[in-house]
Amino acid sequence: METTEEAFLAHGLDKIDQDGSIAFCENVFSEVLEGHSLVANARHLRGSAWLSFPRLICGKWTTFNENSHVVLMGDAAHTAHFAIGSGTKLALEDAIELTNQFKQHGASRETIPAVLAAYEELRRVDVARIQNAARNAMEWFEVVGSRYADTLEPEQFMYSLLTRSQRISHENLRLRDKVWLEGYERWFSQKAGLPASNDRVTPPMFTPFRIRGLSLSNRIIVSPMAVYSAEEGVPNDFHMVHLGARALGGAGLIFTEMTCVSPEARITPGCCGLWNDEQGKAFKRIVDFVHGSSQARIGIQLGHAGRKGSTRVAWEGMDQPLPEHNWPLVSASAVSYLADGQTPEPMTRAEMDQVRDEFVAAARRGAQAGFDILELHCAHGYLLSSFLSPLTNHRTDEYGGGIENRARYPLEIFRAIRAVWPEDRPMSVRLSCHDWAEGGNTPDDALEFARLFKQAGADLVDCSSGQVWADDHPVYGRLYQTPFADKIRNEVGIATIAVGAISEADHANSIIAAGRADLCAIARPHLADPAWTLHEAAKIGMKSISWPKQYVSGKPQYEANLERAATIAASGAK
Ligand SMILES: Cc1cc2nc3c(=O)[nH]c(=O)nc-3n(C[C@H](O)[C@H](O)[C@H](O)COP(=O)(O)OP(=O)(O)OC[C@H]3O[C@@H](n4cnc5c(N)ncnc54)[C@H](O)[C@@H]3O)c2cc1C
Ligand SMILES: Cc1cc2nc3c(=O)[nH]c(=O)nc-3n(C[C@H](O)[C@H](O)[C@H](O)COP(=O)(O)O)c2cc1C
Repeated sequence: METTEEAFLAHGLDKIDQDGSIAFCENVFSEVLEGHSLVANARHLRGSAWLSFPRLICGKWTTFNENSHVVLMGDAAHTAHFAIGSGTKLALEDAIELTNQFKQHGASRETIPAVLAAYEELRRVDVARIQNAARNAMEWFEVVGSRYADTLEPEQFMYSLLTRSQRISHENLRLRDKVWLEGYERWFSQKAGLPASNDRVTPPMFTPFRIRGLSLSNRIIVSPMAVYSAEEGVPNDFHMVHLGARALGGAGLIFTEMTCVSPEARITPGCCGLWNDEQGKAFKRIVDFVHGSSQARIGIQLGHAGRKGSTRVAWEGMDQPLPEHNWPLVSASAVSYLADGQTPEPMTRAEMDQVRDEFVAAARRGAQAGFDILELHCAHGYLLSSFLSPLTNHRTDEYGGGIENRARYPLEIFRAIRAVWPEDRPMSVRLSCHDWAEGGNTPDDALEFARLFKQAGADLVDCSSGQVWADDHPVYGRLYQTPFADKIRNEVGIATIAVGAISEADHANSIIAAGRADLCAIARPHLADPAWTLHEAAKIGMKSISWPKQYVSGKPQYEANLERAATIAASGAK
């Protein structure tokens, strides 16, 4: 039986003995016990104790020397929370692997060190994976009351429960129970507004999404990515080809890179800007192409580099100060990004007014250029993010201190833009939902920021993390930022964008189907493949997605080649 700390204390379970606890549980489960009693574990095995689960992994699992011959297996080497029921499996697999290694290397005094080393090396990988999954599952149960019970409909609640460890994905569910999964896909697609049909059901990532007056044909976004190729902030042919190719590549929405509101707001001399009409005109040409030649919509991300400005383009040294022609930096406080980087000046109120007006002017130009959505960049340690994080905001005025004060200036900018941005077009805000550094913002803080932006009229929160503090320690891994999108979506009640290490359709389908986010932004995979969305559709056999009419003859061949490769792989596997 598992319960929250709050319920545990409220029922006085901390004050009663084992017999009292057993009686309490018998009462809770009386309906299923049907008059039977519960049996406690033997007292010499600590009995049936309430415990806060200790997740342990030993630093060393084996010793083999004159004095000691030890191999740890199972719970003695590592524990995994019961939420995914895998402790026994892990213990048995340890034993099987140890036996395998003895078979491979032989069981002599000389071979034993190699056997033990290989055993430990191999098993650690699997154990880490299972411990991760068990932690996800444990956390799901910990937040189910506040996050899912009242927000998700029963169908989606079930999907969320089944995929709680994030080890079981959408396609994995299909293998386990095809009929059930197709039923769920049908339910999801009808909720998303698609008509019921007997054809192959549309997988969640390919369902449409509407917010204010914006209709997206699917849930995939080309995440904002700086390409450092502008001159004087003006997007050129490179941007047209880069964004145009990705618009033709199937994503429902593509974002520009962080587009800067003044020359001093740029990260590098190669960044795009929207502080003059020439830039506005150049962007309009791109927007018109996207609208005229693709089914994609296009959004602008507006930002100000703050203390991370005046640096070199990525391939000449990311975050490194320019060797010459630097410009002065402003930030919430005088905290440089790199120890040897340029120190910014804390913003004065007059500068805050000026930058706010620059954001408003850029937003007006963006609206005139025809962008469908505007994202305000409040992440990654840039100017607005520097106000949000306590690591970079040491102000003692009303813009520093608690969460509301730190959010005051970013919210002021947001509201000023919202006032001029067309009513029927949505706005999103990108947050660093975790600073991954001691004393920095945590996902709980991000939740509060998301609430405040929602009150200010934000339609979407784009949930990124990090890059605020140079000495941060992100825990990378598949879908590593998705838990932030999940938390904010389901605890604040606002649509979210998941981003970060989402690299295949199966990931995106799992995230969207489970209601962990409404949209998925994909960055680096789109650098490798502009048509990522079309190609992923083909990989999962989703033939009904349309290709640009100019490219249609490439589609059946591409699909047939994939099918052939799959058939060969399957026959090879046999
Ligand atoms: C409430 C609960 C629910 C669980 N649910 C699941 C589940 O659904 N699915 C699942 O796969 N796993 C589950 N587990 C985990 C699973 O029970 C353990 O991971 C698994 O039993 C570990 O096996 P083991 O052999 O490593 O350790 P153990 O099963 O703990 O075996 C260790 C043995 O060593 C003995 N011992 C200890 N000290 C000494 C000594 N000095 N000399 C001699 N003997 C000693 C102990 O008496 C014990 O018999 C659950 C665990 C708990 C507590
Ligand atoms: C080359 C490059 C440039 C980027 N530029 C921006 C940017 O301008 N604005 C932004 O918010 N994020 C930017 N990012 C971050 C991405 O939008 C995304 O959040 C991150 O790469 C994680 O997604 P991925 O794992 O799919 O790559 C950039 C990432 C890359 C790789």
